[in-house]
Amino acid sequence: MLQIKALKKSYIQGAQEVKIYDNLNFHVKKAQRVAIMGKSGSGKSTLLSLISGIIKPNDGDILLDNVSYKDMKEENINDFRATNIGFVFQNFHLVSYLNALENVMLPAKVCGIKNAKEKAIELLESVGLGHRVDHLPSQLSGGEKQRVAIARALIHNPKVILADEPSGNLDEETGIAVMDKLFELIKKNNTTLILVTHSKDVAARCKETYELIAGNLKKC
Ligand SMILES: Nc1ncnc2c1ncn2[C@@H]1O[C@H](COP(=O)(O)OP(=O)(O)OP(=O)(O)O)[C@@H](O)[C@H]1O
Ligand SMILES: [Mg+2]
Repeated sequence: MLQIKALKKSYIQGAQEVKIYDNLNFHVKKAQRVAIMGKSGSGKSTLLSLISGIIKPNDGDILLDNVSYKDMKEENINDFRATNIGFVFQNFHLVSYLNALENVMLPAKVCGIKNAKEKAIELLESVGLGHRVDHLPSQLSGGEKQRVAIARALIHNPKVILADEPSGNLDEETGIAVMDKLFELIKKNNTTLILVTHSKDVAARCKETYELIAGNLKKC
């Protein structure tokens, strides 16, 4: 369902070109759960940003369910992302002036999904936050914010969830609980998962693990 073809990406930093990938090829089947590991700076977050269409490659293409990003018009990529992709950021990225319920409802509103409120309440309850719906992000703990972020990534039933170190800054016990919830929900919905993690335990929950080394994904 996800194909990455001859992907090239570099950043221009001053007079220098920082090459991240020169010829990256990869594919992920539907409902597959894939972990991506690799040293800091190897390009893991860059890869998720490319898959989400937030940034563009220098060359090559990404296809999601046979839809080519290269062929897509600039104005369509945001809608495409909003409909098909759920993103769990390492640092939550919740909207600070919206409460938990409103944050979770946001992608559903963008996609014009009916019953957004009921769905958001149901998801918040399923991540154990039924009693925190009207709390602002500043009134939530780290683990609670991350659970809101997971509920938000799932509300529009996306084809793919991209998760960037979703338990990276949680204590071990909370991290495990948050991961349990994420895996339970994606299994229920048959969602494809691409998960970046530094934790071997978290990676072990995925069907396949790859390591990003020198711009290539090597199966572990
Ligand atoms: N906008 C940018 N401009 C220039 N260089 C960038 C930019 N974004 C990232 N980089 C560089 O690209 C490399 C890959 O960054 P990326 O964030 O993808 O790494 P990562 O594998 O996610 O690392 P970490 O495990 O620390 O999160 C890094 O060396 C980083 O400094
Ligand atoms: Mg990163």
